[in-house]
Amino acid sequence: MSDPLVKAAIRARDNAHAPFSGFKVGAAVEDESGRIYAGCNVENATYGLTMCAERVAMFKAISEGARKFRRVAVVADTETLTPPCGACRQVLWEFCGDVEIVLANLAGKTETLRLGALFPRAFDGSFL
Ligand code: THU
Repeated sequence: MSDPLVKAAIRARDNAHAPFSGFKVGAAVEDESGRIYAGCNVENATYGLTMCAERVAMFKAISEGARKFRRVAVVADTETLTPPCGACRQVLWEFCGDVEIVLANLAGKTETLRLGALFPRAFDGSFL
């Protein structure tokens, strides 16, 4: 896998704190200048406070001042490629709109699609 965005997500996945599910996820977002922000899932013994890899990566980017995004990558060790959960789709839509999403696994399988395909008729600030 030569895509630096996917590589960053694979590396971040190694840092996942997933003692309860055993399900490690890595994610990375690329801003308009090509800078990459990566994250992993961080679980909690209360379960409900668990944070997904996608939101960790997204919030890292926002907190570093990034505002426009080109692509998002999500990596898990599953044969069927793992898509972002519903909560993450909402958060990604907030900051990235109809962004390109690259799903990948550790075996090198990838699929690229747009967030709008995963999250049609999104609610966002345009309704407020
Ligand atoms: N998880 C993610 O980090 N991203 C996803 O897209 C799906 C789910 C995490 C949350 C939890 O730590 C574990 O995977 C099992 O749900």
